[in-house]
Amino acid sequence: MSHHNSNRAMFATRFGAIAATVGSAVGLGNIWRFPYEAGIHGGGAFLICYLVFVFVIGVPVLCAEFCMGRGTRSNVFGAYRKLAPGKRWDYLGVLGIIASLLILSFYSVVAGWTIEYLINSVTGSLNFSSMEGGHNQFNELTTGWRPILWTVIFLCFNFLILIAGVTKGIERASNILMPLLFLLLVAFCINSFFMSGFADGIEYLFYPDFSKITPSVLLGAMGQAFFSMSLGLGCMMTYASYFNNRNKLGKTALTTAILDSLVAILAGIVIFPAVFTFGLTPSAGPTLVFEVLPHIFSQLPAGILWSTLFFLLLFLASLTSTVSMSEISISFFCEEKKMSRIKATILSSFISLCGGILCALSFGPLENFKIFGKDFFNLFDYISSNIFLPLGGMGCSIFLGWMVDKNFVSNQFTDYGKTKFHLLGLLVFSLRWVCPAAILLIFLNSIGLI
Ligand code: TRP
Repeated sequence: MSHHNSNRAMFATRFGAIAATVGSAVGLGNIWRFPYEAGIHGGGAFLICYLVFVFVIGVPVLCAEFCMGRGTRSNVFGAYRKLAPGKRWDYLGVLGIIASLLILSFYSVVAGWTIEYLINSVTGSLNFSSMEGGHNQFNELTTGWRPILWTVIFLCFNFLILIAGVTKGIERASNILMPLLFLLLVAFCINSFFMSGFADGIEYLFYPDFSKITPSVLLGAMGQAFFSMSLGLGCMMTYASYFNNRNKLGKTALTTAILDSLVAILAGIVIFPAVFTFGLTPSAGPTLVFEVLPHIFSQLPAGILWSTLFFLLLFLASLTSTVSMSEISISFFCEEKKMSRIKATILSSFISLCGGILCALSFGPLENFKIFGKDFFNLFDYISSNIFLPLGGMGCSIFLGWMVDKNFVSNQFTDYGKTKFHLLGLLVFSLRWVCPAAILLIFLNSIGLI
C-alpha cells in the first residue's frame, strides 16, 4: 500500500489489490479447515454444497462488501454508519469486529502449530520414521502448555507486520509466495496420484453421496464458504476501502472466489488419498491435516526439505490472512475511536492473545472444559464460522440490496458510468432475495424448524 494525499492507505496496483485479497482468502481455511470439515461432513456431498455456496451466496456477498468498502472508504462500522446515518445498522459492524477477534484467537493457535512444525522440520525432529505416526506426533507437539508459546510467537509476527504501516513488504512477498504455495500443492497432488489410496481418496472427495446432505452438512458448508472467502464480518470491506477507483469489483470478486476454491480442492487432493493410503479416518477433526502431512513427507525423497518448504509457505499464507483479519478491528479503533495505529494494534493483539490462550489450551489442560459440549477452540470456531459470518453476510446483503440507493451500487461497479457492468440486475436481485433467503433457510433448517 502507498499513502496518497489523504492519510488513508491504498493498494498501489490492481495486481497488488488482488494479491492482498487472495492472500486474505487463501490460508489455513483452505488447507487446514476445508479438508477437516469435508472429512467430518462426508466428502463429496460437502464439496458440492460448499461450491454452490461459494458461487451462489459468496460471490454476491463479496461484491457487496467490496462495494460498501470502496464506496465509503471506511472501516466496517463507519461504512454502515455513513450509508445509513442514525439507523443502527452499524451494529453489524460491531458484530464483525467481535467475530474477527474470536476467529483470530483460534486461528493464531493453528498458525502457531505451523510454526512449531516448521521449526521441527528444519531441525529434523519431525518424527518421520516412527510407525505410530502423525497422531502421537501431534499430541507430543501441541498438547500441554507449549502451544501458548507458539501462539504468542505467531501473534508477534502478525503484530510486527501490522505495525510496519501495512504490507508493502508482505504485499510483495505474497505476490511471489502465493504462486509458490500453489505450485507446491500441485506437486503434492501429483505425488498423491502414486499413492495406493489415490482412487479411494478421490472418490471420497468428489463422489457426492447426496443422502449424506443433512442440515449440519449444509450449515458447515455454508460456514466454510464464508470462512474461506474471509466474508461476513467486513474483512473484504476493509480491504476494498484500500482499492483504487479503477478496480473492477466484479472481476476481482470472481477471481478471488475461483482461486480460493481451487486451492481448497487441491488441498483435498493432497490430503484424502493420503488418509486412505495410511489407514487414517477422514473424520478426525481439526487435527486431521497435521496428522496426515508428516506421513506424506515421510514417503518423499528429501522429505525434510518438502516439509520445511510446505510449513513455511503455510505459515506465510496464515500471516497474510491474520493481517487482514486484524485490520478489521485496527481500522475501527483508529478511525472511530481515534487511537493511534500502534495503540490500536496493541489492543487488537492483546484481545486475540487472551482468546488465543483459551484456545491453545483446548487440546491439553482445558480439554475437558466444555461449553455447549465444545471446548473453547471448537466453540469459537463454530460460533463465528457457522453463525456470525453467515449472519453478517445476510445483514450486508439485505443492507446493500434494500437500504442503499441503487445508484451508489451501480457507480461502484461501473466506475461512475465509465465502464459497463452487465450483471448489476442479477447482483441486486441476489442481494435482495437469494442470499438472505438461502442463509435464512439454512439457519432454520439447522435448528430443525424446516
Ligand atoms: N479466509 C482466511 C482463510 O481461509 C481466513 C480469514 C481471513 C477470515 N480473514 C477472515 C475468515 C475474515 C473469516 C473472516 O484462511
